[in-house]
Amino acid sequence: MLPHLVFRNVHLCTMVDGIATLSHGAVVCLGEEIVWVGAENDLPAFDHAEEIDCGGRLLTPGLIDCHTHLVYDGNRAAEFEMRLAGATYGEIASAGGGILSSVAATEAEIALQENAEAELACAICETGEDAARMRADTPNHRAEEKRFRRLIDQGITTVEVKSGYGVRAETEAFLLNRAKAMTQQLPLDVYRTYLAAHVMPQDAGMSRAEWVQHLVDDDVDRVCAAAGFDAIDMFCEGIAFQPDELIPLLQKAQDLGVDIRIHADQLSDLGGAQLAADWHAASADHLEYTSDAGAQAMAAAGTVAVILPGAYYFIREQQKPPVDAFRRYGVPMAVATDHNPGTSPLNSLLLATNMAATLFGLTVEECLLGVTINAARALRRDERIGTIEIGKRADLAIWDVGTPAELVYNIGGNPLWLRVWRGRID
Ligand code: NIG
Ligand code: FE
Repeated sequence: MLPHLVFRNVHLCTMVDGIATLSHGAVVCLGEEIVWVGAENDLPAFDHAEEIDCGGRLLTPGLIDCHTHLVYDGNRAAEFEMRLAGATYGEIASAGGGILSSVAATEAEIALQENAEAELACAICETGEDAARMRADTPNHRAEEKRFRRLIDQGITTVEVKSGYGVRAETEAFLLNRAKAMTQQLPLDVYRTYLAAHVMPQDAGMSRAEWVQHLVDDDVDRVCAAAGFDAIDMFCEGIAFQPDELIPLLQKAQDLGVDIRIHADQLSDLGGAQLAADWHAASADHLEYTSDAGAQAMAAAGTVAVILPGAYYFIREQQKPPVDAFRRYGVPMAVATDHNPGTSPLNSLLLATNMAATLFGLTVEECLLGVTINAARALRRDERIGTIEIGKRADLAIWDVGTPAELVYNIGGNPLWLRVWRGRID
């Protein structure tokens, strides 16, 4: 019989009512679910209970990082130095660096992996070793696993992971399968996004519209069959794809019934937010150049605004997202790391909240809604995760801090005391 896990003596921040807290609270989990929440004085007696005295620490929902590019190989430290010397992100990208340099590093590593795995597979046939050991043990693989482990160490219980550093269906499927393998090995939920229209090879020999058509006619179905995914994403930008070029991909995502997410209005206003709203996207992300009308359209469509201060900071952008317009029209705001090798090598979701507050003026409450329930909304999983409520998943984070504001206030460090994922204590 499963024990009831009783977390008592907590400073409870359920995120149901913003960052309102209740001292001397308790949360009870059974299996993967929360079965009781309230004041410790009202706690009923549970059969077969295991008690955890949390010493008055702050208990919140497990955090959700709803926008990352965690699966890639190599890094772009050299481009960082070029930008420090004066080159812009756009200039580096137009000269064949940027996303394409990560594509090259990733494709090269995957070729190595494929060879190593083929060899390992033969060895496994002979020795009967576990299939989980079929990943080659390379520095890149270890770096990637560390990126996932870091999330766990920082109280994150669900992460969105995008592909996008491949230009072949095989590579993209490989990356999405790598993300899936992490969920099989590590205590963490991974929502997987196929970032289909991210970049096209310089020698593609076709227009951008033709490239998108090629994705729609060929790659999307192959990636779907070989890996599967929860959403399709696309980069709507002057240095990437124009709104009208993306229509066939949006239609394809809609036909497949997967969520739509759009990297929108990051470097210029091409109407990406409006496009996201027109297609009822789950989220539009970045949004530094989004117009008032774009924000209004997102509100009407229920599209979540994912705010990514790490990229803004790292590429030294000057234009801030229209936070006031999002507030005025009631657009839910999420906050994420956008961890990626090019524009946001940011390894801390709490630091992203600090940046969202300091750089964009989000309140502490907006920041914490942004990494809990609004992040869950961006992933359309808000019925299961994002708040502490009876019937929701037992994903909790318990922090060595006195108030919710301290989570946002600190720069660096790790205040996590205990993490619970699907009712399992780490
Ligand atoms: O979210 N904007 C597009 N994609 C990534 C960065 C890509 C890269 O430079 O590697 C982003 O910023
Ligand atoms: Fe991104």
